[in-house]
Amino acid sequence: MCGIVGAVSERDVQGILLEGLRRLEYRGYDSAGMAVVNGSNQTQRAREVGKVAALADAVTAHPLEGHLGIAHTRWATHGVPSQVNAHPHMSGERLAIVHNGIIENYQELRDELKAEGFEFTSQTDTEVVAHLIEKHYRKLGKLYDAVKAAITRLRGAYALSVVHADEPDHMVVCREGSPLVVGVGIGENFIASDQLALLPVTDRFMFLEEGDIADIRRNSIEIHDREGTPVERDITRFEHGADSADKGEYRHFMLKEIYEQPKVIKATMEGRVTGSRVLEQALGTEAANLLDNVRHVQIIACGTSYHAGMVARYWIEELAGVPCSVEVASEFRYRKHVIQPDTLFLCISQSGETADTLAALRQAKKAGFRAALAICNVPGSSLVRESDLVIMTQAGPEIGVASTKAFTTQLTALLIFTLALARHNGLAEDKEAEIVKALHLVPGQVSDILALNAGIEEMSKAFMDKFHSLFLGRGSQFPVAMEGALKLKEISYIHAEAYPAGELKHGPLALVDSEMPVVTVAPNNDLVEKLKSNLEEVRARGGELFVFADKSAGVQEEEGIHVMQLPEVHEITAPIVYTVPLQLLSYHVAVLKGTDVDQPRNLAKSVTVE
Ligand code: M6R
Repeated sequence: MCGIVGAVSERDVQGILLEGLRRLEYRGYDSAGMAVVNGSNQTQRAREVGKVAALADAVTAHPLEGHLGIAHTRWATHGVPSQVNAHPHMSGERLAIVHNGIIENYQELRDELKAEGFEFTSQTDTEVVAHLIEKHYRKLGKLYDAVKAAITRLRGAYALSVVHADEPDHMVVCREGSPLVVGVGIGENFIASDQLALLPVTDRFMFLEEGDIADIRRNSIEIHDREGTPVERDITRFEHGADSADKGEYRHFMLKEIYEQPKVIKATMEGRVTGSRVLEQALGTEAANLLDNVRHVQIIACGTSYHAGMVARYWIEELAGVPCSVEVASEFRYRKHVIQPDTLFLCISQSGETADTLAALRQAKKAGFRAALAICNVPGSSLVRESDLVIMTQAGPEIGVASTKAFTTQLTALLIFTLALARHNGLAEDKEAEIVKALHLVPGQVSDILALNAGIEEMSKAFMDKFHSLFLGRGSQFPVAMEGALKLKEISYIHAEAYPAGELKHGPLALVDSEMPVVTVAPNNDLVEKLKSNLEEVRARGGELFVFADKSAGVQEEEGIHVMQLPEVHEITAPIVYTVPLQLLSYHVAVLKGTDVDQPRNLAKSVTVE
């Protein structure tokens, strides 16, 4: 999705803006641009299609010098990726604007502004906002007042940053439905759609709330809320260290993030579990009261986070005996629901800014759910701020578009939550202790799997020339298979479908032949014998099997069956551990195919539009 950076400083801002854009590249984009107000009070602009590197070349050849500037990476929604559609957009020669989000009533505003004589050079919704602000500026003579007046006409979602050459000492920013953070410096201030963009220049951040409008100057930050009341927003410190957004020794962020999993799973457990118990106070002071009264759980999420929710359903129903429903946010938000009394609404999101998930949460809050719990990885995100209770995962910044460490830390947090809920619903103390002990073993087991990397890389060669694949699992391993299939399709572009293995004979078996690799996750559990029969069905049709199993599962390596032996794992924690080899498999297939592993085509890291 689009990214925004802005700076007002005593020093030249071009370098700050460029570095900020580079750090936003992971979000996915198709063009980039910047506008700087120079010493002669002129607004200069550069825009390029393609990578930020192309913009860097352009501004190296013709520098944009000045102390106030805004910049943007665009992910096309209205109008093709092109230079004229790239941001910043301008009205006349002096006002420039960058925008994240979608203006739903842009066509009506465009017609109106055209009739008033404004000329449009792009197909974007953003240019409409630029002209609308300029129109008010001509009447009101102050940028802040003009932005305030203009946004009353906007319907949709936006984070905006606006500069005007007549007011070269500040920018005006606002947000409604799209994230915006202010980076607090010393004698300089910054804004961005994501704090990662600003880590080289500050570690202190103020998250704007919905409806906020702010005047950002070198030495002051003035914020007003939707009602026009002056407000203070807390300053929080970024805790993960500036280098957490660097690849280090790794070839790709995705690989680095896969290898970070033992550490971040452990960090997600810290302070929340003892050797044998979950510390439910660590889930918040309200947790005990809430958990006592939960009779049903409704989980909402998208993509990988949805798969985490699917695993959690098995845990919640098995360990807590509480009915649990799971739905993708984009479906949930557009249908009528029958809400069971005392239903806990649980949102899962790495970014905390996914538009569909946020919309579902907002709807749920109005609809009468008992409370909203968020499992999220980004402190200060909209989801965190708008939920009643939050369990933060400790994955640290996840840059690769393909989610890896966010998923396994979500599962860790969800298991901790499940055990707390289960205790309120009669889970025996020794069972809780058994599972907590198993959870403590997970970081070590994940490290053991990482040590199998070379073998998994070898296995990946069999997928390189394939166009389709199937992923099978049963029980709580079915969502693991779904996650494995999602990873493979999003970064290698190989069509991958996941099925509960028992469904094979109801249709997908017709697809199986020697050109269709079948990946199976098969830890030893109550279902493994049934799963083995399903594998025989595949073999009998000439299918080639790639099986991840522990020794006691008893799956033998033979013609047509490749077995990767994994450590023995507790049945409950197995979904966390079995995910990791599938991440590595997809990674290596993508590297062999030469795709853009960290920024796969057409995808964005944080999906802030519907
Ligand atoms: O930030 P979120 O967890 O809400 O994001 C949800 C999905 O967009 C995300 O998990 C997506 O499916 C990933 N690219 C999967 O790797």
